[in-house]
Amino acid sequence: MYCSSTPVVRRCLALGMSVVLALTPIGALRADMGPVRYLDPGRPVASRVDDLLARMSLDDKLGQMTQPERRHIEPDEVTRFRIGSVLSGGGSAPSPNNVRNWADMYDGFQRAALAAPLRVPILYGVDAVHGHNNVVGATIFPHNIGLGAARDPELVRRIGAATAEEMTGTGVDWNFAPCVCVARDDRWGRTYESFGEVPELPSSMTTIIDGLQGSALGRGPTSVLATAKHYVGDGGTAGGRDQGDVRLSEEDLRAVHLPPFREAVRRAVGSVMVSYSSWNGLKMHQNRYLITDVLKGELGFSGFVVSDYNGIDQIDGAPGFTRKEVAAAINAGIDMVMVPAEWRRFIERLRAAVEDGTVPMARIDDANRRILTKKFELGLFERPMADRRYLGTIGGAAHRALARRAVAASQVVLKNDDVLPLDEGDRIFVAGRGADDIGLQSGGWTVTWQGAPGATTPGTTILQGIREAAGGSATVTYARDGTGIDRSYDVAVAVVGEQPYAEYEGDRTDDLRLDDTDRETIGRLRAAGVPVVVVLVSGRPLNVTSELPGWDGFMASWLPGTEGAGVADVLFGDTDPSGRLPVTWPRSAAQEPINAGDGQRPLFPLGAGLGYD
Ligand code: GLC
Repeated sequence: MYCSSTPVVRRCLALGMSVVLALTPIGALRADMGPVRYLDPGRPVASRVDDLLARMSLDDKLGQMTQPERRHIEPDEVTRFRIGSVLSGGGSAPSPNNVRNWADMYDGFQRAALAAPLRVPILYGVDAVHGHNNVVGATIFPHNIGLGAARDPELVRRIGAATAEEMTGTGVDWNFAPCVCVARDDRWGRTYESFGEVPELPSSMTTIIDGLQGSALGRGPTSVLATAKHYVGDGGTAGGRDQGDVRLSEEDLRAVHLPPFREAVRRAVGSVMVSYSSWNGLKMHQNRYLITDVLKGELGFSGFVVSDYNGIDQIDGAPGFTRKEVAAAINAGIDMVMVPAEWRRFIERLRAAVEDGTVPMARIDDANRRILTKKFELGLFERPMADRRYLGTIGGAAHRALARRAVAASQVVLKNDDVLPLDEGDRIFVAGRGADDIGLQSGGWTVTWQGAPGATTPGTTILQGIREAAGGSATVTYARDGTGIDRSYDVAVAVVGEQPYAEYEGDRTDDLRLDDTDRETIGRLRAAGVPVVVVLVSGRPLNVTSELPGWDGFMASWLPGTEGAGVADVLFGDTDPSGRLPVTWPRSAAQEPINAGDGQRPLFPLGAGLGYD
């Protein structure tokens, strides 16, 4: 257009302005539009959401509801598809796995998200279920079953706050934790992710949400989004089969499995993850009554609901998800879908379902409103990048000291025939696969999804803790299988238990006994004729009934994490044992499921635990 006469000049100016505005990053929009309301932190969140929603296309809205896994998406695709969130599955880390690479990876994805026209930041989600556990060098706290034994909600809140600090240093702002499951059958592979077998225990430990999110979401520089999971009944499946079927009346489902979610909602948890399990044959991922009517309606949950990893793919039981499954999940009330690899297909399926009316636009808008509200509350639009001031907290002395305290508080002494506490001057023989192995004492969800034996991350093994506690005057000898022990020793300590596992890989259908290697090690120690203390490193109670009479001392250590010295603190009496069983201890696997009040006679009841006085 050639600019000469007055009317033409006005049109030129208008054209010129629109060209300038179109090229201007949206944040700098001024002129006649005034400041962009959704970018104004001084405005109420609801009005920022309304303004942003009004500017969003269907593409923008579908992208917000999509959560790919980091290995299956490039940063420029985050930009192009307006992706709302990216996750690291268990153990999915940058290489090399170090804190700076985590922060760089996070910032790379975030910069890509901010390069989209509306500049909506992503949420980056991980399972920091016992510390920022995907990161080498992070502080690894005891798994939940040990924290349930500690019975200390304030300690658990502090663990949440420490975890949030370590996450913030790497930028990661969404934690798929806490698991508030009520573990009713110890054969379940996720028993250790439960705070206990009665709803009061996970309900009381929802204080971890306050630690993670702060007094309110976004209040304070280290606030991260927490997730109550897995909704609902994951710990109550038949036979303890992971992702199985919960066969309960609604009354019993509500009495046993719902209370921790009610408490989490009361604490304003920002997200809830749906369980893979079914309730009386119906997959939770399509249960509109429980997700929309109960969780969002009756309980008043105002955050957003996320599916589990490929959870929508399980709805019809056939491999690969369909438009029907996508529609069923979204119409049930799921707001964001964790769809690690097939995220493009998910977006296509959901678009088709919206266009044919199967999924109403109102449902899409509600999902976006929920997601965006949490992003605004979290302060993501104002502080989108990693806060590297907190990198130094990762694995730092303060957090390790807190973890050591938690380890000591979680130990449960179940037998003590005048053998504990150990004396510093004792000649001590230590044996067992779990004595000198950070990976074993940390369990699953540690650096890798399943966890692994070995020196997988920095920390203190139980043996190192014993050596430190025994002091210079004592003699501490270690032999993994117990060879070399003789009568000259005052006491033998056998650290035995389970190899690491996670989720269904940990489901047990056997007799829940110690394996041959551990039993042979203990036998070797007993044959020497010295008192034997057994320390059990496991994610659940094991069947020790026939061996227990031959032990002089027995302590459940659960999965203590990187600070093994906390175990020695109790063995030597530097900390008196205060742990109490968070689950009923069976006489045999045949008693499973076994829970308080069910009329069975356990080896040790819920709440059992000895002190030293
Ligand atoms: C897993 C788990 C869930 C976890 C998610 C992301 O399958 O069921 O607890 O948060 O995937 O890793």
